[in-house]
Amino acid sequence: MRTQVGIVGAGPAGLLLSHLLALRGIESIVVETRSRAYCEARQRAGVLECGSVQVLREAGLADRLDRLGLEHGGIYLQFGGQRRRIDFRDLTGGRTVTVYAQTEVVKDLIAARLAAGGAIEFEISDTEVAAVTTARPVLRYTGADGVRHEVTCDAIAGCDGFHGICRDAIPAGLRTVWESGYPYAWLGILADVPPSTDELIYCHHPAGFALHSLRSPQLSRLYLQVPPEEDIAAWPDDRIWAEMQRRFALPGWELKEGPVLEKGITPMRSFVCSPMRHGRLFLAGDAAHIVPPTGAKGLNLALADVTVLAGALISLLRDGRGELADAYSDSCLDRVWRATHFSWWMTTMLHATPGAGSLEAQLQLSQLRYVTSSRAAATSLAENYVGYRPAATPG
Ligand code: FAD
Ligand code: PHB
Repeated sequence: MRTQVGIVGAGPAGLLLSHLLALRGIESIVVETRSRAYCEARQRAGVLECGSVQVLREAGLADRLDRLGLEHGGIYLQFGGQRRRIDFRDLTGGRTVTVYAQTEVVKDLIAARLAAGGAIEFEISDTEVAAVTTARPVLRYTGADGVRHEVTCDAIAGCDGFHGICRDAIPAGLRTVWESGYPYAWLGILADVPPSTDELIYCHHPAGFALHSLRSPQLSRLYLQVPPEEDIAAWPDDRIWAEMQRRFALPGWELKEGPVLEKGITPMRSFVCSPMRHGRLFLAGDAAHIVPPTGAKGLNLALADVTVLAGALISLLRDGRGELADAYSDSCLDRVWRATHFSWWMTTMLHATPGAGSLEAQLQLSQLRYVTSSRAAATSLAENYVGYRPAATPG
């Protein structure tokens, strides 16, 4: 088999890349170990930066996003018995974020690719990439029917997430990795109850961080800081709600409870791999970098990477020009490091480090008072949250 771009992984990165390439007449195949139903149901991120929304709109992917997405002009920071708002519109010249679940982004992308006759192979196994430093890299996999395939490509995109195989195709001596874990995790729930808030609440509390997010006017998404090795079995629904009530408590405000539809625990880490390119293999999204979810950056970075990568591959494969491909890694890593710092900063400002003592809490409270009272500090938070800097749709 022969195609122009072999794409490993049908997450947001791989699917959007395949779509952006098809819009410019470049053929690709997407191979994915999981089933379509699994990819469409996997609960993950929920906030799109304005640049991500613009890329999806310009790519003709925003029909449902424009109908169902909830545009938010700010967030609340709650700490020390008060809830203060950061006004994104005012601080960033009118920019906003949109609450629209990753599950919906993935559904829209899969539907668009299949409607356009795009090739997505689900439930494949034994993915291999080879000859990546030649002009004809090779993608091998076993299809759902058990047949082994070999696809000769012009380039391969490793969009296979943190646990994928593509990163390891860059020889260890040629890549540098920076990594750090956090001494806490997030317990997340999807609840069948209208949100108790109009915008996200990031809550600092001596017992640990909590976040009230949303999915729709009927569905709420909430998170609690828990120990990193926590067993979800230790958290029956009534314990989760009791802890939410304790952390979010504010006089005159009520947290509404409802049936818990789903719950799970997510570990947190910061991870960056450089470079994001080796020969004709390009890494994008979680395959190259991971951030803790506190800044809502993971999904947005994945979408920005492939927006840049699509431009680089179009220039390379259509016009025979390699400059954008050569610049790909540096141009993405600049944004990745900004988001890595921002996510670390939000995380360490809002979470209680086990055993840190009372100095940490005082420093966090001082920082929270500062970002909610100084226009300069609030502007910095706001411009990072809405997206710094957005990637432009390839021309
Ligand atoms: P992924 O979405 O991970 O997609 C990679 C795809 O590659 C997967 O479908 C995988 O099955 C497939 N794959 C893996 N190996 C192979 C292989 N060998 N062959 C073929 N296919 C393969 N971000 C936020 O902003 N907020 C959140 O609340 C949040 N929660 C998260 C919760 C969890 C449990 C995780 C893991 C991530 C979360 N993130 C969150 C991060 C965000 O969801 C990711 O940054 C985003 O999914 C990255 O998209 P991606 O396409 O790069 O990778
Ligand atoms: C979510 O809605 O899942 C979400 C929102 C904001 C974050 C992280 C997760 O910072």
